[in-house]
Amino acid sequence: MAFRPGQVSKRSNIAPFLAMEVLIEAARLEDQGRKIVHMEVGQPGVPAPERARNAAKQALDTKLIGYTETAGVIPLRENLSRYYLETYGREVDKDRFVVTTGSSAGFNLAFLAAFDPGDRIVLTAPGYPAYRGIISALGLVPVEIEVGPETRWSLTPELIAKAQADGPVKGVLVASPANPTGTMMPPEKLEELVTYCGEEGIWFISDEIYHGLVYEGRQETALAYSDQVIIINSFSKYFCMTGWRIGWMILPEVLLRPVERLAQSLYISPPELSQIAATAALECRDELEAVKAGYARNRELLLKGLPELGFNKLLPVDGAFYIYADTSAFSPNSLEFTKTMLHEAGVAATPGVDFDPVHGAEFTRFSFAGSYEDMEQALVQLKHWLG
Ligand SMILES: Cc1ncc(COP(=O)(O)O)c(C=O)c1O
Repeated sequence: MAFRPGQVSKRSNIAPFLAMEVLIEAARLEDQGRKIVHMEVGQPGVPAPERARNAAKQALDTKLIGYTETAGVIPLRENLSRYYLETYGREVDKDRFVVTTGSSAGFNLAFLAAFDPGDRIVLTAPGYPAYRGIISALGLVPVEIEVGPETRWSLTPELIAKAQADGPVKGVLVASPANPTGTMMPPEKLEELVTYCGEEGIWFISDEIYHGLVYEGRQETALAYSDQVIIINSFSKYFCMTGWRIGWMILPEVLLRPVERLAQSLYISPPELSQIAATAALECRDELEAVKAGYARNRELLLKGLPELGFNKLLPVDGAFYIYADTSAFSPNSLEFTKTMLHEAGVAATPGVDFDPVHGAEFTRFSFAGSYEDMEQALVQLKHWLG
């Protein structure tokens, strides 16, 4: 009998990241000895805080690293609870925290607990591309709403109401500060959105992964406006721990047990070594604030330097470490533009196409998470290239 392999699922047919082409090409050029300035990476250029690394080293030498409570070890949840008091002046009981394998696992768990197949989830375009992938793979329907300067690149109750006119909306997912735009919703606009969703019986999911990295305006957690929202956060960005794959959620009471049950089956527990490091990272404010001050310097440099080179349509950079630039004056196709810039200027950046299927070809994302010297070098190389 001929061997008949099984079939690939329809749900796995999600869009690949076109930006990977730029990454692969940058690596190829570096193999050939070219010096490339990396402004495409969405991660800090420095390691986890020293005390976090030391805590992990000590744990490796002195204890067995094993499974933990599914929701995360108690010292970590206690430190997270203290962190909310210090950062936002909010008391959040440690039992409302669920520690996850990066915020990515948080999305999976939250969506599985809150939604059923076919449910429509509103998100912004431009936006973080994996949202679309996760939502589609779980059998949910991403409803992307184009946002622009008229709403300062954010969702509004009116925009959600429009989406509701086409069919029921079960969830609204917002990142603020956002990737790729770097823009942050002012607290009163965030409150409007949370209140609207609450009145409409829509889950509000707040991706607060770029909290801590805010340069303009006041950051506020969506938790300030309701305890019925889903907060998703991570140690990846402010805490410089992308590779440790560790994050957290704050959940309304009703979702705690469903998420715990799902997490038991899907992940058993988040990685213990990373939990130990993360517990210590929450006590490293000084070191992390120094890293943030470095991003702030990079941001200043680029906000002055990029417009001098003709990149004069930049979105407001309230937070995160991205500058989203309208590059349509250079090329209508940012994928081609970034490839040419990589080859000719030796600067790697991310084309907007993955973030926004409609207008992304007109935009390019520059990350300033690298060193100040790299940012200076990028400006020199771009200047030379653009003549
Ligand atoms: C807006 C946003 N959310 C979530 C993530 C995923 O982060 P992690 O799974 O490392 O916590 C990223 C990563 O770049 C992001 O930009």
